[in-house]
Amino acid sequence: MPMDDARRLERLHVEIIEPPDALARAIAHRIADLVRRRATEGRPCVLGLATGSTPVGVYAELVRMHREEGLTFRGVQTFNLDEYWPMQPDSFHAYHRFMREHLFDLVDLDPAQTHLPPGALPREQLAAACEAYEQAIREAGGIDLQLLGIGKTGHIGFNEPGSSAESRTRVVMLDTVTRRDAAADFFGEQNVPREAITMGVATILAAREILLLATGEHKSAIVRRAVEGEVDHEVAATFLQRHPTVTVYCDGAASSELTRVATPWLVDEVQWTEPLELRAVVWLSLRVGRAILKLTERDYTENHLGSLLARHSDAGVVNGLAFNALGGRIRGRSKLPREHKVICFSPHPDDDVISAGGILRKLHLNGNRIVVAYMTSGNIAVFDHDVRRYIDILERLAVDEHLARRRVDALTVSIRKFLGAKHPGEVDSPEVQDLKRIIREAEAVSGVETLGLRPEDTRFLDLPFYRTGRVKKDPVGPADVAIVRELLEAERPDMLLVAGDLSDPHGTHRLCKDAIDLALAEAYPAGATRPEVWLYRGAWQEWPVTEATWLVPLAQEELRLKIQAIFKHQSQKDSAPFPGQDEREFWQRVEARNKETAALLDRLGLAEYFAMEAYVVA
Ligand code: F6R
Repeated sequence: MPMDDARRLERLHVEIIEPPDALARAIAHRIADLVRRRATEGRPCVLGLATGSTPVGVYAELVRMHREEGLTFRGVQTFNLDEYWPMQPDSFHAYHRFMREHLFDLVDLDPAQTHLPPGALPREQLAAACEAYEQAIREAGGIDLQLLGIGKTGHIGFNEPGSSAESRTRVVMLDTVTRRDAAADFFGEQNVPREAITMGVATILAAREILLLATGEHKSAIVRRAVEGEVDHEVAATFLQRHPTVTVYCDGAASSELTRVATPWLVDEVQWTEPLELRAVVWLSLRVGRAILKLTERDYTENHLGSLLARHSDAGVVNGLAFNALGGRIRGRSKLPREHKVICFSPHPDDDVISAGGILRKLHLNGNRIVVAYMTSGNIAVFDHDVRRYIDILERLAVDEHLARRRVDALTVSIRKFLGAKHPGEVDSPEVQDLKRIIREAEAVSGVETLGLRPEDTRFLDLPFYRTGRVKKDPVGPADVAIVRELLEAERPDMLLVAGDLSDPHGTHRLCKDAIDLALAEAYPAGATRPEVWLYRGAWQEWPVTEATWLVPLAQEELRLKIQAIFKHQSQKDSAPFPGQDEREFWQRVEARNKETAALLDRLGLAEYFAMEAYVVA
């Protein structure tokens, strides 16, 4: 099928821009162009704005352009999509506050020209306020450019499943999926408001131009649904298909399930490369339900893969190449390094055992010298009730052992007092933050001891960028890089294990990787031999077998030991404060994910392993 057919499958115009910051810059530039054009024409400019994690980079770039390039927002009016209800504008979680912190207070927008739905009004005044919001948009001349994110439910604004195409600004109930997504910011789903005020679908569609932004793999399924699926009131974003000037901007991860990206041979002539061939053969094998070595010429020709067959003499050759390529990636203990120096960088205390517990055990048995470096303290993910339990132990010990009571009491009384008066989401006192850090450090030591390592094999880097006490982190700075660099220079490792996630919900894994990449560049000048970097995926996903460089099999006993090590992270057990959409505990996800990787190889007709970890060598 020619490329036109790929586009025909896509019912919205899609632009894929990598990496995410280039995407943010492209959007910011489009907005800035409009703002400037309108200023030159002497006409007003009305922007529709969104909140959430996706547009943060866009606002940062607009602020930079304002400061460095003289971009002015005088004469611009803004209308935001939504606000939680009830919500005081100064509240930590208010979209009012979000907009002030990310844009309004940092540029020369006239505060009287910025509008958000009023979250602080009593219920009986809401209907009139919603009508007034619509009226204000009309009086401003309508929205010129509307920025949108997309929720996992396909919501635009807070138009959850069931919203009609005619809906206008109104109060809505938030979907469970949306509330769970917001749970991390609110320190628990129970604190997320149940209602919100949102522009309606019709309000959004009345904008003259619409830009929808999506970044991260967690958006890939809903992006495909919105772009390739039928218009359906269960997915509000599909209504955008009725608008003439919508552009969907995705990064590579968010576009990964679009047909033209996931299975390009279905919609286009493809330039075959080895990795693409392997992907196609694995796809075909799973699609027809036959092992790779049993795929026939007919399987290829009937499934749009005739061109792949044409590159090789027959199906047997294509099958054999793919089978060998996968088989060659399997590395048991005998093929893993021996007596090397290894640093395992773990963004939070527990990523090491969750994602790399199996290989760490094997590397330990192979006589490698391993250091596990925990990059952040992970203290925001410890529940207050755990802190109470530990100070109770401390107090009991103090009584029994006649410890310096005055010191112990001073500490525990002040911690109890703080926790007693704490509001959900409030930043912890330094004492509580410290105790939470210490709880996680002790768990981490216990975790690696389960794998056979010693407490002295751990390092707690406590990188400064993380020490905000909030979900929102600072950017990675020279102080972070210097700490990582010092460790690299002290250890001079041969091999690194690094978290290489694309879509960690809080961005911490990505920031940790940035710090490592910058430190490597500093510690190893061009030409110097760098350690080999093995990327593991965080708790949320595994590398697809077609992308993995190495597949490391785990025996039943090894998986059991790995799970025991995960159990040591008790503060994250039973119910983790930041579980994402997946309700399973980390150990359950790990068990399923490692067994699924092995089962997949089995289905493809390779050997039957019990479980498997996957790594990509950078
Ligand atoms: C925010 C809004 C929502 C978000 C969506 C995606 O004003 O209306 O539709 O755009 O929930 O949120 P993030 O960007 O946090 O994934």
